[in-house]
Amino acid sequence: FMTQASGADYIFKIVLTGDSGVGKSCLLSRFTRNEFSLESRSTIGVEFSTKEIQMDGKIVKVQIWDTVLAGQERFMAITKAYYRNALGALVVFDLLKPSSFQNLDQWYNEVRANAGADCSVILIGNKADQRHIRAVQYEDAKRYADERNIPFIETSALDATNVEQAFRTLITDIY
Ligand code: GTP
Ligand code: MG
Repeated sequence: FMTQASGADYIFKIVLTGDSGVGKSCLLSRFTRNEFSLESRSTIGVEFSTKEIQMDGKIVKVQIWDTVLAGQERFMAITKAYYRNALGALVVFDLLKPSSFQNLDQWYNEVRANAGADCSVILIGNKADQRHIRAVQYEDAKRYADERNIPFIETSALDATNVEQAFRTLITDIY
């Protein structure tokens, strides 16, 4: 949702989604704090961070929600609340892990079902720093994104490649 707020001209809610271990929390900490941890732990519950950025002279406060919402322990009410009022979603998979690419439909459809058709979505292939063991080809991911009319960007939370650009692409699309 887009509201007026003290100190910022707008607040955008963005959500991170994708299989456990793909690097959602690391992308978030890289973007908001410029930090990375190899020992990042699986997220329990819902966490969020905010970052203020300048867009055309306006201050946009981006509120980014991060969670692991998979398997049995997940309740529909939590899913609904997580996506409610989200203006953007980063659907993340791991370039080293084909199963995380094969599971994309689950995450993409969940965004579409719960955040609404107007939610801006971007596909992220993370861990691009590990070129020698990459297992998902650029062309396949690009085709997936093209078929859904969404951008695709390869990132590395580890070396920071394209992380800022990925968030900015999404925020620009919302804005
Ligand atoms: P859940 O909270 O369980 O959903 O996982 P997550 O998607 O938040 O993954 P997380 O950010 O915790 O990262 C999982 C593991 O991947 C950690 O060991 C990270 O250090 C590692 N990792 C994250 N991003 C990258 C990256 O860009 N490159 C490499 N090489 N490793 C990464
Ligand atoms: Mg996490």
